[in-house]
Amino acid sequence: MSLDTTIDAPAPDARGHAAADAAALRAEASALLASGDVRAALAAVERAVLADEGDADALVLRADCRAALGDLAGATDDLAQVVSLGKAGPDTLDRLGCRLQELGLFDQAVVCHVRAVDAAPPERHPELYLHLGAAMLGQGNHKAAVELFEAVLAARPADAKAALSLSGALLQMKDYRRAAEVCRAALEAVDTTELRHNLGTALSMMPGEKEAAADAFRRAVELDPGNGHARHMLSVASGERMEAMPGEIVAGTFDGYASYYDADMVEKLRYRVPGLVRRALLDPFYGKRRFGAILDVGCGTGLVGLMVRDVTDHLKGVDVSRNMLLQAASKNLYDGLEVADVNESLGTDDRLYDAAVAADVCGYIGRLDGLAAKIFARLAPGGLFVFSVERHPTEDYAVLGSGRFAHSRDYVKRTVEQAGFLVRSMAPERLRVNAGLPVEGIVVVAQRP
Ligand SMILES: C[S@@+](CC[C@H](N)C(=O)[O-])C[C@H]1O[C@@H](n2cnc3c(N)ncnc32)[C@H](O)[C@@H]1O
Repeated sequence: MSLDTTIDAPAPDARGHAAADAAALRAEASALLASGDVRAALAAVERAVLADEGDADALVLRADCRAALGDLAGATDDLAQVVSLGKAGPDTLDRLGCRLQELGLFDQAVVCHVRAVDAAPPERHPELYLHLGAAMLGQGNHKAAVELFEAVLAARPADAKAALSLSGALLQMKDYRRAAEVCRAALEAVDTTELRHNLGTALSMMPGEKEAAADAFRRAVELDPGNGHARHMLSVASGERMEAMPGEIVAGTFDGYASYYDADMVEKLRYRVPGLVRRALLDPFYGKRRFGAILDVGCGTGLVGLMVRDVTDHLKGVDVSRNMLLQAASKNLYDGLEVADVNESLGTDDRLYDAAVAADVCGYIGRLDGLAAKIFARLAPGGLFVFSVERHPTEDYAVLGSGRFAHSRDYVKRTVEQAGFLVRSMAPERLRVNAGLPVEGIVVVAQRP
């Protein structure tokens, strides 16, 4: 066939065949998706879209398959195509809004969700309102989100999801008393781990409620014994002195987070630490333009690797979460990756490094003297240790309502100096946002003499 061959529009009955083929392939894809075989479902639905490009149901199905495989941009394109075909009902608009939220595009998501709601009463379509409220939270518009969640809850007082959304928004606004009230009212109708968790979080921030908070987390653990975060919060609320979050809980948390960590941290939470680490390493006063070897402690999915690969000959990553390391491996940035709990070991190689980095890792390690000593021993003379901490105003280190540790400036300085380091810089920085609010921290640069 020559390249300039014109292709005639299909005859009307050919269109009918195409639509029938598309419908059969779509049905096959739906069944495959329901059985959990997402890749085979995607292959079938690709053929359905080829057979009939105007088949809105096939495009929506392909969007679901793509989203399940982590291709959020592709899923968004499919759903936007359905909108431009003029075939998007509330369900498709709602799906598009949710995908846009996952991409961190909250303003566009709100537009989609508002169109999806389209004056439908909250008692009939509560989920459309809850998704709109979530997008508003992403925008930082907490007040509007709370009003929306309250409207849903007023229309459906026993709706556990509405109570969860409302209490979550109130927690973000630090209105702990109301968050606890909302959870308690909802718990009279239905007992869920998530509601108990929000209740415990609210109570743990209220004076004199430590025991009640521990009770709430205890019940959350009873309802879902595998919930590591609830177990961790129970230990904190029970007054157990925590020196670090146990490695298996960290691993479990991040194993579950790994597939959407990059999108969440970079696009939604505006995570800045890897870029700040690069800036510190290349600082003209204490840094270098090129490193022989860098050790990335708690390397996660390799966001620091992306930032430093071009300035080091050798790059090693260590992390306790296998799934985070699989994501890092897929980026092809590291010369070595190792599963290890840094509280126990810093890996098995005996190389001396020119720099060690721990970006957003100390949130899981309270007492820092052991880590500082281990890193010191792995650095060559002159080697830099660059790490971030969330700032605690008073205590040496303590677990925040988020379940992560924060550290005081004095404690961090004292601890790294006791390990033998010289402190080169302790810059206050905005590390990321959390629920629309900035997370303030410190980026520390310490040097082995
Ligand atoms: C918030 S992520 C940061 C990942 C990466 N440094 C970044 O900047 O994107 C924290 C990482 O530290 C890891 N981590 C936390 N505690 C750890 C420990 N005790 N040993 C090894 N890795 C740990 C977690 O598994 C997770 O991958």
